[in-house]
Amino acid sequence: MKNNNYWETWGEEKLRSFQETFIAWYEKEKRNLPWRVNLDPYRIWISEIMLQQTRVDTVIDYYYRFMEWFPTIQDLANAPDEKLLKAWEGLGYYSRARNLKIAAQQIVNEFDGQMPRTIEEIRQLKGIGPYTAGAIGSIAFQLPEPAIDGNVMRVVSRLFEIEDDIAKASSRKVFEEAMYKIIDEERPGDFNQAMMDLGSAVCTPTSPKCERCPIQSYCLSYQKNTMTNFPVKSKKLKPKDVYYIGGIIENKQQEFLLSQRDEKGLLANMWLFPINEITKERFEFLQENWAKEQQQMSLDFEEHSMVAEDTVDIFEEYSQVVWQKRTLGEVTHIFSHLKWHILVFYGRQTGFTEITEKQRWVKETDFSTLVFPKPQQKMIELFETDRKNNKNEMG
Ligand code: ADE
Repeated sequence: MKNNNYWETWGEEKLRSFQETFIAWYEKEKRNLPWRVNLDPYRIWISEIMLQQTRVDTVIDYYYRFMEWFPTIQDLANAPDEKLLKAWEGLGYYSRARNLKIAAQQIVNEFDGQMPRTIEEIRQLKGIGPYTAGAIGSIAFQLPEPAIDGNVMRVVSRLFEIEDDIAKASSRKVFEEAMYKIIDEERPGDFNQAMMDLGSAVCTPTSPKCERCPIQSYCLSYQKNTMTNFPVKSKKLKPKDVYYIGGIIENKQQEFLLSQRDEKGLLANMWLFPINEITKERFEFLQENWAKEQQQMSLDFEEHSMVAEDTVDIFEEYSQVVWQKRTLGEVTHIFSHLKWHILVFYGRQTGFTEITEKQRWVKETDFSTLVFPKPQQKMIELFETDRKNNKNEMG
């Protein structure tokens, strides 16, 4: 992609005045955020990891609790996995939490318990890529390193009319080059955070508030009124639909069946209410049939007891078990490139089967100590709503 490299035309004087204007704006307008109260590298690291995929408003409460539970790098290195995942429950992308603990152990073992202070060393920590290393290095240690995320690319692409496709990894070096040129080397952390704040409050994706922008007069796309042509971004593929049947399954001791995910891949090792992938056709067939049955049930108030042929999908090995079944509804959830559709039923175990080591029965009172990913939380909600609505029938 050819570029005008417009930043190369900026002289010393223009650069200085740009930086001063921008930093002055940040001083005045900066958001009051809990990770900005001091420059403790540990606090900055945690905030940047949380903020990687999650909005500021959502992060704040998680951040306070995390700092309370794990106030030091040592506490994090020694954190029990269950507690760590609990602290992360609902934030998504759980590998971030697991990587944090591994990185904390790296710091304890390889860096004498102190956060490393050079970009190269920070980059060695598990879970830290170029963006996060730049953010920690610049904010905590005043290293003149850019921290380039989607917001920053939007601002910079408009500032210089950069036409490179931001969805492509290869475009990164163009943004880096521009940022190395304009970053305030005396206050790189403030400069990077000014970029972030500008990107989130002023230089917004669809209708940028240029009238409030402190660097409007430096902005090439403002002068040419081309703001909304930038950034250039190729279309993301639509998330792929995946279909599941899922069961909230209760035994005679009022315990619920959980099943552990594989060690690799999405939601690795987590405990889930059993779900099983089915075809789209099967999903639609069950959806329709269950809806019909449900109507029938509410007419005659009779508890259905059946060898549920259609729940055999759940587990081959459970096929001899007789379920009393009711449909709870559907749950959908998007995991970046996948869209899960789960058709959820409630079932009771009325026959006995051995469980494997990847399955366990847990009491409902233990749910709060377990970590359920989002789609599973939605399954619990369906179950609880259904129970409230059907007290008498459930017995
Ligand atoms: N997004 C990512 N890092 C941030 C920070 N330090 N302040 C505000 N928003 C952010």
